[in-house]
Amino acid sequence: MEPNKNLHILQNPLLKSKVTHLRSIHTSPKEFRKLIGDIARIEAYEALAEFPQEIIEVETPLTKTKQPIIREDRICLVPILRAGLGMSDGIKEMMPDAPIGLIGMYRDEETHQAHEYYARFPKGIEDMDVLLLDPMLATGGSAIDAVSLLRKHGVKRIRFLAIIAAPEGVKALQAKEPDIPLFVASLDDHLNEKAYIVPGLGDAGDRIFGTVD
Ligand code: PRP
Ligand code: URA
Repeated sequence: MEPNKNLHILQNPLLKSKVTHLRSIHTSPKEFRKLIGDIARIEAYEALAEFPQEIIEVETPLTKTKQPIIREDRICLVPILRAGLGMSDGIKEMMPDAPIGLIGMYRDEETHQAHEYYARFPKGIEDMDVLLLDPMLATGGSAIDAVSLLRKHGVKRIRFLAIIAAPEGVKALQAKEPDIPLFVASLDDHLNEKAYIVPGLGDAGDRIFGTVD
């Protein structure tokens, strides 16, 4: 697919290595959860690279000095349940003050359509920068519906962080929301007849929670 300014395919070798381990069928749920958290933190570094800083005064043991901070409480993490929870858990470890909103979505196994079953957002989300989190961007249906729900709640600034994306999902999301920066660790080859990403990693939710639907 054509490269474009809002699609960031991250190239960090540590990130790539972790994604390779994540894909393996031999990776246990415990290792899988740890890898998802590590990958999400690396992606968050990249996604926040241009984030505005504020200057505050801080007193070191030697002197007072003016130094930059970012307002974590202005960055809302919004995982798409279930699999996105693995990403928000990881990012929350390094940004403990970031509020969390939740969107529950499941894909119908036959139609592959996304269905919303839960949503809860912190007060004031409309003025925050949202990191929307889901490890898998397949057809794009879940992401598109999640973005439109956030828009209905007045959210203006959204960055979408996925771990593995299919070209079909990127195209669908960008056709609807061309201005959302999209950060992915891998752009895979295609979707199979069940709308699973190939080579992919299988069902991310099942692998995080050790369930088989
Ligand atoms: C997976 C994944 C995404 C969605 C991606 O969730 O975590 O939310 O599929 O597919 P799409 O781009 O075609 O919409 P799933 O619906 O399997 O729910 P789960 O996380 O509860 O297992
Ligand atoms: N959801 C997943 O968890 N994996 C895929 O490959 C596609 C959708």
